[in-house]
Amino acid sequence: MRLSLALDPRLASVLGLCLLHLAVAAGKPNLLDTTSASDSVRCRLQGTPHPSAFSKDGDFFIGGVFSIHYYMLTVEHNFSTMPEPLRCTGSLDSRELRLSRAMIYAIEEINNSSQLLPGVTIGYEIYDACCSVPVAVKVAFQLTNGADPVFDTGEGCSRSNTLTAIVGESGSTPSIGMSRVISPFGIPQVSHFATCACLSDKKQFPSFFRTIPSDQYQAAALVHLIRHFGWIWIGAVRSDSDYGNSGMAAFLTAAHKEGICVEYSEAFSHTNPQSKVKKVADVIRSSTSRVVVAFVSYSDMRILLEELERLPTSPRQWIGSEAWVTDPEMKHFGLCAGAIGFGIQRSVIPGLRDFLLDLSPQKVSSSPVLTEFWEGAFGCSLEKETALRERALVKVCDGSEDIQQLRVPYTDTSQLRITNMVYKAVYAVAHAIHSLVCEEKMNSTVYCDRNQSVTPTQVLEKLKRVNFSRNGYRVSFDANGDPVATYELVNWQRGEGGQMEFVTVGYYDASLPDGMRFRMEKEITWVDNSTQSPTVAHVSALWRDVPS
Ligand SMILES: *[C@@H]1O[C@H](CO)[C@@H](O)[C@H](O)[C@H]1NC(C)=O
Ligand SMILES: *[C@@H]1O[C@H](CO)[C@@H](O)[C@H](O)[C@H]1NC(C)=O
Ligand SMILES: *[C@@H]1O[C@H](CO)[C@@H](O)[C@H](O)[C@H]1NC(C)=O
Ligand SMILES: *[C@@H]1O[C@H](CO)[C@@H](O)[C@H](O)[C@H]1NC(C)=O
Ligand SMILES: *[C@@H]1O[C@H](CO)[C@@H](O)[C@H](O)[C@H]1NC(C)=O
Ligand SMILES: *[C@@H]1O[C@H](CO)[C@@H](O)[C@H](O)[C@H]1NC(C)=O
Ligand SMILES: *[C@@H]1O[C@H](CO)[C@@H](O)[C@H](O)[C@H]1NC(C)=O
Repeated sequence: MRLSLALDPRLASVLGLCLLHLAVAAGKPNLLDTTSASDSVRCRLQGTPHPSAFSKDGDFFIGGVFSIHYYMLTVEHNFSTMPEPLRCTGSLDSRELRLSRAMIYAIEEINNSSQLLPGVTIGYEIYDACCSVPVAVKVAFQLTNGADPVFDTGEGCSRSNTLTAIVGESGSTPSIGMSRVISPFGIPQVSHFATCACLSDKKQFPSFFRTIPSDQYQAAALVHLIRHFGWIWIGAVRSDSDYGNSGMAAFLTAAHKEGICVEYSEAFSHTNPQSKVKKVADVIRSSTSRVVVAFVSYSDMRILLEELERLPTSPRQWIGSEAWVTDPEMKHFGLCAGAIGFGIQRSVIPGLRDFLLDLSPQKVSSSPVLTEFWEGAFGCSLEKETALRERALVKVCDGSEDIQQLRVPYTDTSQLRITNMVYKAVYAVAHAIHSLVCEEKMNSTVYCDRNQSVTPTQVLEKLKRVNFSRNGYRVSFDANGDPVATYELVNWQRGEGGQMEFVTVGYYDASLPDGMRFRMEKEITWVDNSTQSPTVAHVSALWRDVPS
């Protein structure tokens, strides 16, 4: 099944200026060429396709883009040889691996369902964009174009993939890059984790949806929280990215209106030199405000906390944004004890845990990403002895590795938050396709036409109107492609064994009238390990340095 969507050559050449993934005819060095042997045009993609992390065929296919690795390999170009293809490198983020596997789980469930798209299979192509805009943009082009290195068409090199929609990316900045590429073609994008308020602008991002609330709501909720405890003197740090800058801007505007004073507002990124991160840490150490609001992505927060741990200072009360405040990988940072922040509602996805843990060395070997995860998690190699030395692994996996016993973010399904956002996104796309290709017959059996051709623009129109409930959680989008904003207030408390736990202490629902949105249910444990609910004395003890 081919879509009627055609890549307008003028638009494609404009978009393609910064990319190597344009289709060009084989042979001549210039843009278009037809091989005289036949009437059809032989077209060749420039550059090397980015390999997918997971893929499977189906009648309709959905793209997925996650950041399974932390970095893109950066190379110094000397402009004398063809640049190598973009590559992901560094350690593997096993939480993102869980998110991508949750997408596969949702698709398998839909595939098995007799109510949703009965008799129709959904295929997928899932990519690792490793927190990098160039890779995300390249993948967006590839999903739009298809990845066949050489192909024949009747009419020039315009052609398109059978894509229906893309789920992703995790970060706001890569999501923006992708949206700029795909929205001119009307391809819908449903992000599970991109919270930048900027993405609500439908003039700029007409085909962008998300299942996670916009930071506009989170910023308002954070200000609400700070007012609630009567704090007026705070410090602020943010990621130097669309996520951090736009989130912090919304927060500062709202804070200013409420008369909250900001001692400092610092921006940094994990791509900055160490000296920059150190400077931010020094500002925090030498500040007089005891509360720090951190609108920071998890990859940046890790770096800042590592830097702060190097030279401990008097403890700070951390107020975190949802990107890091519920990330289990952060739990080992003891200096964040007592931290509070808004997280996405914790949820339950029946069957997901069994699916995630249903891995064996045989299954894992067929996927490079899963192999890397397995070898990293168990510290052993799935290959024979000979390959060991060059890979710096000490032993060969002997079959005693038990994933049930493994305690890493991949296997931690106790706090499914963002995972449910991925799950909802996949179901939203499936419901949109369902309403295009399925109809209910008189006798209430559902009949679906798997041969029907569906354009992304049709899926886009249907996505705007989805309204369903899955596992008890509702999914619908407002006119800006945003969901109803609800949050949990999460508090970092030390459990009995001294290990950190994320405890839900309250709720925030932006759809309720002002004054009813914020609901506290449990006591907060503060930075000084006091379990007393904050009294005036307690607050002023925290605030003894407030200048008069
Ligand atoms: C340029 O870099 C490539 C690898 O990145 C290397 O193979 C090549 O020798 C370099 N050329 C010059 C002239 O330095
Ligand atoms: C969907 O299910 C069918 C039948 O159970 C199976 O043959 C197919 O491989 C599945 N496809 C996907 C994408 O899971
Ligand atoms: C789909 O059905 C197959 C065959 O019945 C089963 O093995 C698989 O676990 C099901 N997958 C999901 C996600 O329900
Ligand atoms: C419902 O009607 C369709 C044709 O419209 C028929 O193929 C199918 O067998 C019927 N199902 C039942 C349960 O009667
Ligand atoms: C879809 O197309 C195939 C081959 O062209 C045909 O065999 C099949 O009957 C069609 N299915 C439907 C539901 O129209
Ligand atoms: C979705 O459906 C529910 C009940 O079916 C209704 O209460 C709600 O208003 C609908 N939401 C939207 C956005 O249409
Ligand atoms: C914090 O307080 C709890 C109960 O009040 C206590 O059990 C725990 O040891 C304290 N932890 C620290 C680090 O002081």
